[in-house]
Amino acid sequence: MTNEAWAVLVEEEGKVHVVEMTSGSRKIKGLGVFDPMELIAPVGIGQQVAIGQKLLTRVPTRLPELNKGMLRRAQTVSSKDAGWFVAKLGIGPGDNVLEAGIGSAGLSLHIARVLGNSGTHVTVEPRAEHADIGLENLRRAKECWLEFPSHHHIEGTVETVGDQLQTYCDEFDAIVLDLPDHPPAIRAVASTLTYGGRIACYCPVTQQLEHAWEACEEAGLKVEWAGELMERQWGRASKGGMRPVNGPFGHTAFLLIAQRC
Ligand SMILES: C[S@@+](CC[C@H](N)C(=O)[O-])C[C@H]1O[C@@H](n2cnc3c(N)ncnc32)[C@H](O)[C@@H]1O
Repeated sequence: MTNEAWAVLVEEEGKVHVVEMTSGSRKIKGLGVFDPMELIAPVGIGQQVAIGQKLLTRVPTRLPELNKGMLRRAQTVSSKDAGWFVAKLGIGPGDNVLEAGIGSAGLSLHIARVLGNSGTHVTVEPRAEHADIGLENLRRAKECWLEFPSHHHIEGTVETVGDQLQTYCDEFDAIVLDLPDHPPAIRAVASTLTYGGRIACYCPVTQQLEHAWEACEEAGLKVEWAGELMERQWGRASKGGMRPVNGPFGHTAFLLIAQRC
């Protein structure tokens, strides 16, 4: 996956830089001042380039790289949880997906990647300063990937934008809620879920999970699964063998999936 509009460069330590390939010398955050068309355009995929003190390798503009190098403001959903949502919601080409809030679009990138050209992705976000970051990350992905869904962004809270949602989709195959207060959002959107469609809630603390569960049941949805996913990385031990790497074994959020059935 080579792209002319964007370049992804990886430092030896793994840090990822996503650079827009426009001409003219300018400051590229974390790399310095240079003209990307002069310095990076001649560098092929897999080739290296020295920028300042750094030796960087140009790699394809795939989801993991765009995700690692994305702009961030609001807390993002990790690939561990996003991938599980995509699988459990069962979304793919042709589906209509509603997502609130977009935040930095960490989760949106995973959703957009699987929907392809035939899908529709509607995002909702009340805070313009968050949406600006999220929409920029989606713009990068759209320009990097061969396929991208029809994307519509609505400014506002998901509880108050029902009329606008209807202009894009009568019903959604899946709804994802990553916001602080799930019950009002669930009450507002549950009826827009198609029969058999699923809603996913991302809940950093247990109280949110409990409230989301109650609200789903009150809205007539069947809770299919709630809990958390644990991820533990292993590496090579210095004296041979494999063992879990030292480092954080942290909590991201509790996840809940409920179905309209
Ligand atoms: C943690 S961030 C979402 C991060 C995003 N999932 C990601 O992976 O980058 C939560 C977002 O929900 C937005 N939000 C809060 N209340 C909302 C509501 N009622 N409707 C829609 N979005 C809301 C916040 O402004 C914030 O940007």
